[in-house]
Amino acid sequence: MLEVLPRLPDDPILGLAAACRADPNPNKVDLTVGIYMDEQGLCPVFEAVQQAQRQLIEQESSKAYIPPAGDAAFNTGIQQLVLGADSSALLAGRVSSVQTPGGCGALRIGAEIIQAARPNARVWVSDPTWPVHIPLLGSVGLRFESYRYYDAPSHGVDFEGMVADLKSAQRGDVVLLHGCCHNPCGADLELEQWAQIAEMAEQQGFLPFIDIAYQGLGDGLERDAAGLRLLVERLPELIVAASCSKNLGLYRERTGATLFIGQNSASAEALQSQALVAARRVYSMPPAHGALIAGRVLGDQALRQSWQNELESMCRRINTLRSDLRSKLEAAVDQDFSFIEREKGMFSFLGLSAEQAQRLRREHSVYMLDSSRINVAGINAANIDIVARSVAQVLGR
Ligand SMILES: Cc1ncc(COP(=O)(O)O)c(C=O)c1O
Repeated sequence: MLEVLPRLPDDPILGLAAACRADPNPNKVDLTVGIYMDEQGLCPVFEAVQQAQRQLIEQESSKAYIPPAGDAAFNTGIQQLVLGADSSALLAGRVSSVQTPGGCGALRIGAEIIQAARPNARVWVSDPTWPVHIPLLGSVGLRFESYRYYDAPSHGVDFEGMVADLKSAQRGDVVLLHGCCHNPCGADLELEQWAQIAEMAEQQGFLPFIDIAYQGLGDGLERDAAGLRLLVERLPELIVAASCSKNLGLYRERTGATLFIGQNSASAEALQSQALVAARRVYSMPPAHGALIAGRVLGDQALRQSWQNELESMCRRINTLRSDLRSKLEAAVDQDFSFIEREKGMFSFLGLSAEQAQRLRREHSVYMLDSSRINVAGINAANIDIVARSVAQVLGR
């Protein structure tokens, strides 16, 4: 019976990365996949993560399941990291969480809870959004509406358009927001804009669902969470999907959490109990290794300091690359690239057509998505001139 299933095309992003790996050009540049890369083009393991991992291996005496909600130290650590240790919702006991397989698992569990509370609810997603949001939430039965977000001509947020569209979001609807470092566009909301969204949610009664996968890689751990925390302070309930893939470098260990902020501690507890049943149905038990490491790093003063220092230097490097790329492009092309410096996190659209992005791959072995989304962290001292020169050439200069 299985022969009825046709071969499906490769994932477009992973397919491009594979094409780059196969490209024999020694000067090829891979700006496709969303992983942090250092100056040597490697995705590093944090020193604190290595230390925690060594401790764990020495001390681990069993591979029995961890509790269904995950490691307690991890849950405490991630709640405090995302919401802030002094969050009034946390202090009031209005927060619960479950450890999940990565940020994707967190999004999926969040979607399951929304579907349980309001079957086939409408989820408002930014235009554009991370493409994986659609199958992750849609396969549960949720439906989508989109709100204007990225304004290509100005390379910024079309906040007026966003507000106008979200005026139609009602009680029982969900609004999916990127906590920081918007993927794919890098254009984030200002704090005053978050405040306006909070006011709309209060008045219209929609539920914010916040995906935060890059905390610490935009403006630092605290500032990157400021908008989300403002919503938490003002609203009775919301859901957060957090990922430790990028900011703790735990990608393959599949480490994340769904956080529930309820109206009171009983509702936070009820939401967690629902999430445990949903998890049991989807993947049964959470993976242990990454969360046990993250729990140690977040809970141990010395490891945490070491991790934060390393994360801050990654964040500084991304922001330096942003300003260097802007300067190099502006030196090569008579065009304003200041948006690259304004945008946050690992991604920006360069503003090229799909045909220009394809020419970059074909003629210069510079790989980016057809949308011209680049992973800024894929740039380094050895390839930045190649990137700037190649972009200038496809732009016809
Ligand atoms: C916007 C966004 N959300 C969530 C994730 C979740 O990632 P993971 O499941 O690897 O933790 C990613 C990863 O690329 C992302 O870009």
